[in-house]
Amino acid sequence: MLTALSYGKELILFYVIVFLTIHWTSGQNTGPSHGKVVVCYLGTWSVYRPGRGSFTIENLDPSLCTHLIYSFAGLNPSEDTIRSLDPWQDLTENYGKGGYQRITSLKLRYPHLKVSLAIGGWNEGSMNYSKLAADPLRRTKFASSAVDFIRKFNFDGLDLDWEFPGKRGGSPDDKLNFLLLVKDLKAAFRKHNLILTAAFGAGKDTIDMGYDVEGLALYLDYIHVMCYDYHGAWDRKTGANAPLRSTDVLNVEFTINYMIKLRAPTNKLVLGVPLYGRTFLLPEPFDHNHNRKPKLSMSSTSVGFQGPLTREGGFMGYNEICLELKNKTHPWHKFWDSESATPFAIRDTQVITYDDEKSIDEKIKFAMEKNLAGIMVWSVDTDDFQGDCTVDEENPQNFPLMRAINKSIEMSLEDLNNSILREKLKQRKNSSFRLLGSFNVIIVVFGLFIFF
Ligand SMILES: *[C@@H]1O[C@H](CO)[C@@H](O)[C@H](O)[C@H]1NC(C)=O
Ligand SMILES: *[C@@H]1O[C@H](CO)[C@@H](O)[C@H](O)[C@H]1NC(C)=O
Ligand SMILES: *[C@@H]1O[C@H](CO)[C@@H](O)[C@H](O)[C@H]1NC(C)=O
Ligand SMILES: *[C@@H]1O[C@H](CO)[C@@H](O)[C@H](O)[C@H]1NC(C)=O
Repeated sequence: MLTALSYGKELILFYVIVFLTIHWTSGQNTGPSHGKVVVCYLGTWSVYRPGRGSFTIENLDPSLCTHLIYSFAGLNPSEDTIRSLDPWQDLTENYGKGGYQRITSLKLRYPHLKVSLAIGGWNEGSMNYSKLAADPLRRTKFASSAVDFIRKFNFDGLDLDWEFPGKRGGSPDDKLNFLLLVKDLKAAFRKHNLILTAAFGAGKDTIDMGYDVEGLALYLDYIHVMCYDYHGAWDRKTGANAPLRSTDVLNVEFTINYMIKLRAPTNKLVLGVPLYGRTFLLPEPFDHNHNRKPKLSMSSTSVGFQGPLTREGGFMGYNEICLELKNKTHPWHKFWDSESATPFAIRDTQVITYDDEKSIDEKIKFAMEKNLAGIMVWSVDTDDFQGDCTVDEENPQNFPLMRAINKSIEMSLEDLNNSILREKLKQRKNSSFRLLGSFNVIIVVFGLFIFF
């Protein structure tokens, strides 16, 4: 009797605490205050990077993102279900680390946060998705199993990362079939209020080949446009990873304007920004004496160098780049390419093209002028999440690029408001001058009338 009573009291206390916590946190704004979406992809294999490059779910700062996307899950084509590509990291069975549960439980402390699971990615290829999308029965089966999977792990939605419909072994019918797949998924998701998004490639041919943009926009909540990988060592010459502008179609402004021309509603378009750069090797060491102002598009070998943490040829995380650029014993020369509005750095035969606070600010200004839904990043795990590149050693700060995004969105919106306000004031001033002008004429005419 006594124990049951005290047990009951503890239970009540427990409920009171849970209630107060929920009540308190739901009254708090735990995310960005600017009202735009900030979609943060996490590449979960980043946990396997060595030393200070290893990124775990606990390294996330959800106050800098409105949406998190756990990347990637795969397709089980024999069951038409989503499958974990790394059960030990994702699941709890067999002493697994339970990544799905750990990331979705961040919502308890950050009630503003939405967490989606991404399916696909480069390594999953295109063919298995092409076959799935071509079969109406398989599509329906996948849609219903996807709902179960997403709900089971408490995700808020699914992000489709089929790379790419109509390419890499896909079929010309993929464009229509992808639309049908998205339509079937949305029909199943609607009942449960789940979010359906997709990552789109940025190349014109990728868009033309794979996406019925206007149709897809009817069913997708957001379109994450992967505005990066425009250039890399595969070009056999140096070039910006994510140029804002260029004389050809390989640039951020073209991609976004083209999507708008194809009738993507701006309030569903999310501009993707890379938190990484591309690396190149020149055939000869760069001669700074004879070439003071180097231009991008120098001949390079077909494979770039690796970073010590990401260890992938031709690719370097911003966390690796910012540390490299601080090297005083073997210094880099830093440049700004005004056409692409991005920085690059050269040391001997090595070249890095990348994005920093300034280039990201320019991209955000463009996105805000176009009134896009917000900004996406690939990926949070290569920002300087440890704060190792911090300038003010007394005041170390992590996630410099994510913080710059937060600030730039706020400032750009404020600037836009102010310029709209200035425009209105100017118009009002002009019209009152006109009024004053006609008033003067009346006075003069009246004066002349009196005079004569
Ligand atoms: C497609 O599915 C088959 C069967 O599960 C699998 O063996 C294959 O690896 C998949 N393709 C890719 C690129 O993952
Ligand atoms: C600077 O770069 C050189 C050459 O790559 C390297 O050997 C050295 O360890 C670097 N120093 C620092 C402090 O990173
Ligand atoms: C985001 O920016 C706002 C406004 O500048 C600021 O108040 C807030 O602290 C920033 N958030 C983070 C997590 O830095
Ligand atoms: C801009 O103006 C709109 C409408 O007047 C207002 O709701 C919004 O808060 C303003 N944003 C900023 C950043 O000043």
